[in-house]
Amino acid sequence: MEPTGLQGLEVLISEHEIAKRVDEMAARITATIDCSEAVAVVALKGALILAADLVRRLPALRAIDFVQARSYGHGTESSGEVRILRDVEMLLTGLDVLLIDDILDTGLTSARLKSHLESHGARAVHLVTLLDKPSRRRVEVQPLITGFTVPDLFVVGYGMDFAERYRDLPYIAVLSPGEEHA
Ligand code: IMP
Ligand code: MG
Repeated sequence: MEPTGLQGLEVLISEHEIAKRVDEMAARITATIDCSEAVAVVALKGALILAADLVRRLPALRAIDFVQARSYGHGTESSGEVRILRDVEMLLTGLDVLLIDDILDTGLTSARLKSHLESHGARAVHLVTLLDKPSRRRVEVQPLITGFTVPDLFVVGYGMDFAERYRDLPYIAVLSPGEEHA
């Protein structure tokens, strides 16, 4: 049965908490890199909302571009195979890249995107992610900053989906296990 409305969702991180943390993330980024020489690369689709909120808190970036990767697997499990579905359009040679991703789970997707952008000649790739689930890590990745550390729960909202749903929620919620199969 299709879950209706917000049934089966429990708020984990509120809209207010997210806004406060995004302010702190922007301050950290601004203190670390020269945004006027940096290209923000947004990892579609999950980082869409974070990126929109974050870039508006940074001083003029050089540009904004997009990349999309897919990690193959069943349901909520990553298989370990990551493919680039959409590449950046810009020449990144010699530029700093601010890679904006949604979540560091196994870390495989962000690690793959980071090395992919480095292979484009970026001077440095600084990773920022909204969430970090350290208990699930399979490869070492060192983000410049992450928004929140979360336990091993499947979350949705603020860009993150389950089967393409819930990206539009303004908060981050936990999807009850039963709802994953609904
Ligand atoms: P990783 O390669 O295992 O780090 O997984 C990264 C990708 O898996 C993220 O960019 C998300 O698209 C997806 N993902 C991992 N955990 C969650 C979750 O709890 N909710 C929604 N998507 C997730
Ligand atoms: Mg996803």
